[in-house]
Amino acid sequence: MKGSTHPLAVPEIAVVAVPSDERVWVPQAEGVWFRPLMLNTRQGQWCNLLRVRRAGILSRHLHPSPVHGYVIKGRWHYLEHDWVAETGSYVFEPPGEIHTLTVPEDCEEMITFFNISGCMIYLDENNRQVGLEDVFTKIDMCRRHYVNVGLGADYVDQFVR
Ligand SMILES: [Fe+2]
Repeated sequence: MKGSTHPLAVPEIAVVAVPSDERVWVPQAEGVWFRPLMLNTRQGQWCNLLRVRRAGILSRHLHPSPVHGYVIKGRWHYLEHDWVAETGSYVFEPPGEIHTLTVPEDCEEMITFFNISGCMIYLDENNRQVGLEDVFTKIDMCRRHYVNVGLGADYVDQFVR
């Protein structure tokens, strides 16, 4: 028996997480892409895949809100911690955490699902802010990219709530 959906409920999302169409990946930096899955403008939160095809330090950043991650492929670590997130690992990043995301030399590609609340605050080595991302800047990046690759600005709308 099917349930009934409340008229105020937002539409569900169900997509193949790792896309077959390369254009769905939004370039973030040299060798770094993200794939939007859910862009939650109601609560300032988003879910995406991060794909990295280069080794070394990617970013030093702070989260004022919690982050949950699940490693789909490859591995990475934070310079500030002893553990390594491997394929199949779950990671919880607590509010207030500052860390430096690094991919090891012998990892050709890593793909990780992240559920991020609030924003990402990018920092230099002296903890000075050098950038900020939130759900709205992610949506803007997606729109620009999807126009450029011919999917159209509204391609991102299916992920926005
Ligand atoms: Fe983080």
